[in-house]
Amino acid sequence: MSNNIDFSERPWLDPEAEPFIRIQGLTKNFGAFTAVDSVDLDIYKGELFSLLGGSGCGKTTLLRMLAGFETPSAGRVFIDGTDMTDVPPYERPVNMMFQSYALFPHMNVEANVAYGLKRDGVAKGEIKRRVHDMLEMVELGIFSKRKPHQLSGGQRQRVALARSLVKKPKVLLLDEPLGALDKRLREQTQFELMNIQDELGVTFVVVTHDQEEAMTLSTRIAVMDEGQFVQIGTPTEIYEYPDNRFVANFIGSANMFEGRVQKRVDKNLVVNVPALKGELIVEYSAEIADGSKVWLAIRPEKMSISTTLTDTNSVNVLSGIVHDIGYLGSMSTYRIELEDKKIIDITYPNQHRPRDGKHLAEWDDKVYLKFDPSNVVLLTR
Ligand SMILES: Nc1ncnc2c1ncn2[C@@H]1O[C@H](COP(=O)(O)OP(=O)(O)OP(=O)(O)O)[C@@H](O)[C@H]1O
Ligand SMILES: [Mg+2]
Repeated sequence: MSNNIDFSERPWLDPEAEPFIRIQGLTKNFGAFTAVDSVDLDIYKGELFSLLGGSGCGKTTLLRMLAGFETPSAGRVFIDGTDMTDVPPYERPVNMMFQSYALFPHMNVEANVAYGLKRDGVAKGEIKRRVHDMLEMVELGIFSKRKPHQLSGGQRQRVALARSLVKKPKVLLLDEPLGALDKRLREQTQFELMNIQDELGVTFVVVTHDQEEAMTLSTRIAVMDEGQFVQIGTPTEIYEYPDNRFVANFIGSANMFEGRVQKRVDKNLVVNVPALKGELIVEYSAEIADGSKVWLAIRPEKMSISTTLTDTNSVNVLSGIVHDIGYLGSMSTYRIELEDKKIIDITYPNQHRPRDGKHLAEWDDKVYLKFDPSNVVLLTR
């Protein structure tokens, strides 16, 4: 069974679409400190929405206000059309898996998952059936009689997940749900989460430190800084079309050049970059005045590297010396020192095995970096 929510329609672009969760001007002050600063956000049914941001930026505080564990200093929260702002946590159609989820150590897996249903007075037979189904879903059926200390960290995390899902909340808030898992288990559980979401039609709001995880899981991501959203968008939008320097640097890495717009030539802008004593060309269609101060961001994977310069007429060519090489197997990262000492990072796939033990470029080689104007991101702030 699948609820088959089709996000190709992108409800967030449809002004008529009803949000499932609506957050309006939500603020939390702790004394003179503002942890969440007047945020607005609409989340649609069945979304897997991620909050991404550095430590202390307000992610957990925002989740706790959605769950009702924290009273907002200002603003309102609506879920499924109902104002929840003054509704206590246990009366909200919401369940939260905490950053430091705690299983009951003296109870076995089954009893841990059943706990919330029991407390709600659900009939015995139904509890048994729902707990069984949930444990099958997270592939822990064979461990149902074990105590938490007899499980691995990843298995424990899946028990915590089963415990928060078994009550079939309409909204599930997960605070760092996969933090304790190793890379392989983390990836496996990510796909499990997506399956669970697809099967139960739950709306997820997930907090994470891990940007790859957010990119893999999410319908949309909100990037947070100092209690505010600095950009909200799909993973592709956030990565390929960052709105500002904070997002460009926080999501992935970017080589950044400061400059001024010199002139427009058709669909491109010529930008003067003092650090290069030259100019870079960027494709940019929006209106912008000559002389504007801008930043150009180029992702490390969007450049090519070569020890020879074949086409001397092409634009956006930088030359430098290989300063450092990181061999990662499938690809290598190169740190290139340009003539003015600026360091550029580039990643390049290792499509061929080394010849005579040599990779594409070696330490201290002179190299040429090239990138297309359409791969340069122009930022105005
Ligand atoms: N009860 C509280 N009293 C005072 N300050 C608080 C309280 N709870 C949180 N804060 C502060 O609010 C800010 C946001 O905290 P929050 O827990 O939301 O951060 P976070 O984004 O979840 O960080 P992390 O990624 O480290 O979990 C922090 O500076 C924190 O110190
Ligand atoms: Mg937190």
